[in-house]
Amino acid sequence: MNRRRTTALPRWYDGGKTPVFTGGVGVDGYRRSVRPQGTAGDRCGRREGEAPVLPSERDVRYLESLYPPDPDLERVRAGMEAHGMPDIAIRPAYGRLLTLLVAARGARRVLEIGALAGYSAICLARGLPPGGRLISLEKNPDYARVAHAHVAAAGLADRVEIRVGDALTLMPALVAEPPHPSFDLVFIDADKQHYPDYLEWSLRLLRPGGLLVADNALMHGRVADPVDTAPAVEAMRRFNRRVATDPRLVSTMLPAYDGLVLARVREG
Ligand code: DHB
Ligand code: MG
Repeated sequence: MNRRRTTALPRWYDGGKTPVFTGGVGVDGYRRSVRPQGTAGDRCGRREGEAPVLPSERDVRYLESLYPPDPDLERVRAGMEAHGMPDIAIRPAYGRLLTLLVAARGARRVLEIGALAGYSAICLARGLPPGGRLISLEKNPDYARVAHAHVAAAGLADRVEIRVGDALTLMPALVAEPPHPSFDLVFIDADKQHYPDYLEWSLRLLRPGGLLVADNALMHGRVADPVDTAPAVEAMRRFNRRVATDPRLVSTMLPAYDGLVLARVREG
C-alpha cells in the first residue's frame, strides 16, 4: 500500500513557503518527512547527521507491540486513507495519553478543537464516565461527517457531539452557553496559526483545575528553527511562550512525536 501523501496538505500548511513533504511513513504511521534536496533540513527539523526525531522507530515498534489491536482506531486510519484525508491524527501513544488524562482528571466535559477523522475524539471519549460529554469542533463538514461515522462505529455517539464551523465562532458561543466555565479538559489540534486565539478562549472555557492539551507544539522542528518565520510557526512560538509563562498555568511540553503541550489551570 502506498501511504505517501503528496497532495493532501496539512491544515497549517502555509501556502508554498515550505516544500510539500515527500517522505514516507514510520512503523507507527508517523510520517518521517524529508524536504527536497537543497532546503534547510527535513520536516522533523533534522539537518544531515543530526539525531532522528524522538522516539526511535525501534522504541515505537516495541511499545506498540505491547498493546492489543484496536479495531476502532484502525478503522479511523483506514477511513482517513479511503477519504484521502491527510494522515495527521495523533500517534497511538498520545491517543492513550488523552484517554488517560480525561479519566485521571475525572473529566465530565471535554472540548476538542479540530476533529479531523475522529481519532482523538474516540480517545478522549473513551476516558469519559457514563453521562460525560465531548464537544468536538470541526470546520470541514466532510471531515465532520467522517469523524461522526467513526465515533458512532466505536459505540461512542451517545457522548460525542461534533459541531461544524469555525472554532473562533463556536468557542465564543460556548462561553455564552451556561453552565460556564464548564470544561474539564480542552484538546487543541487544529490550524496552527490560530493556536494563540484558541488558548485565549480555552482559558475562558476551562474550569479551575482543568487541563489544556495541544498537539504539534514543535511543528516538525520548524518552531525551533530561527530561520523559519512563517505565520503559523510564529503563532506556535507565541502559543508555547504564553503557555510556559502564564501565571494561571502549570505546564510542560512532551517533546516526543511533534511536541505535546500539557497545562493545568491553577485553582484560586
Ligand atoms: C501535521 C500534523 C498534525 O498533527 C497536525 O495537527 C497538522 C499537521 C503535519 O504533520 O503536517
Ligand atoms: Mg496534530
